[in-house]
Amino acid sequence: MEFRRINSLPPYVFAEVNALKLEARRAGEDVVDLGFGNPDIESPPFVVEKLAEAAANPKNHRYSQSRGLPNLRKAVADRYERRFGVHLDPETEVINTIGAKEGLSHLLWTLLQPGDVALVPEPSYPIHIYAPVLAGAEVRRIPLLEGSEAWFEHMEQAFLDSWPRPRVILTSFPHNPTTVSVDLGFWERMVAFAKQHDTFIVHDFAYADVSFDGYRPPSLLEVDGAKDVAVELYTLTKGHSMAGWRVGFTVGNAEAVAALGKLKSYLDYGTFQPIQIASILALNEGDGYVAEVNEIYRTRRDTLVDGLNRAGWEIDKPRGTMFVWAPLPERHRHLGSLEFAKVLLREAKVAVSPGIGFGDTGEGFVRFALVENEERIRQAVRGIRRFLES
Ligand SMILES: Cc1ncc(COP(=O)(O)O)c(C=O)c1O
Repeated sequence: MEFRRINSLPPYVFAEVNALKLEARRAGEDVVDLGFGNPDIESPPFVVEKLAEAAANPKNHRYSQSRGLPNLRKAVADRYERRFGVHLDPETEVINTIGAKEGLSHLLWTLLQPGDVALVPEPSYPIHIYAPVLAGAEVRRIPLLEGSEAWFEHMEQAFLDSWPRPRVILTSFPHNPTTVSVDLGFWERMVAFAKQHDTFIVHDFAYADVSFDGYRPPSLLEVDGAKDVAVELYTLTKGHSMAGWRVGFTVGNAEAVAALGKLKSYLDYGTFQPIQIASILALNEGDGYVAEVNEIYRTRRDTLVDGLNRAGWEIDKPRGTMFVWAPLPERHRHLGSLEFAKVLLREAKVAVSPGIGFGDTGEGFVRFALVENEERIRQAVRGIRRFLES
């Protein structure tokens, strides 16, 4: 049978490395898995407790509000005020989504249709390409490897070269997988550009709360007037380490929030109410927990990058995200990222994501996800060092 839409989705490149990892583990090998970006840190215990309590109450077992409970939307607005100095109206400028991914995908249904164009950074987190594709739009991939300034110029050129003019510019900083991060000046330019050219910015801010060394990722909404031309996707997945809970938000432009709300009112009944109730607590009282999570990722980052640098593999330290984006060591560049990832798995017993999985411009790199503990990361460094020295 012929299926629609999913035919445009290519086979998942990461599946190949994943299959090899499972095979090795089945054969009894101890593989350190830094491939899939699935956070391993436990969710805040006080939030888990609240979930259990709320789950025991039958009045929370019914359909909930698709847009999110009013107090949940207020908790997001309060966190934005505290963290970014951004004022959001919980009634019109905040909606709860089933993770950032669901929010992004359905938001793009309301912004794009066949014949429309979206601009997306590449290398890309796969849904950044395929959410516009599934909405029927055409995607222009804008190279990001030379950093955000060069990306802006490429984006500007691509925008002016496109007809029809792109309706959406998708962005995400700190960026997965490249870890490129930006300062507020970047967003000032972006907002001015969107206003001048009458286009819309969708900012996936999944790593809003994961940063190091004093760097604080700015919200795009800190720019005056940004709400006229933009929304931001915020999530409890990374900073609050609540990946499986599926709690995200779309905030900013009230018309876009309303459009997404209308669509979602047909599609779902929102997140299970006990999860929403516990998430209110996470947002209101989780700032200290977020700081702890950051410290854990920073220590892992330093262990990995310092260790690999000492082993002769030169890698820069990211100032945001839970990833390390590494150019292949010179001696192994000829292998390409997929082969190199397989060799690393076989010889060093470490699973990583090959850069090619994030698009052609990701070739020549691999991505480490910092999702095993420090001891295991030390083990990974030892394995890689032995392999590099062999
Ligand atoms: C850039 C980016 N956006 C979104 C997500 C997923 O967020 P959520 O769990 O809120 O859907 C991830 C997770 O890896 C990500 O890297």
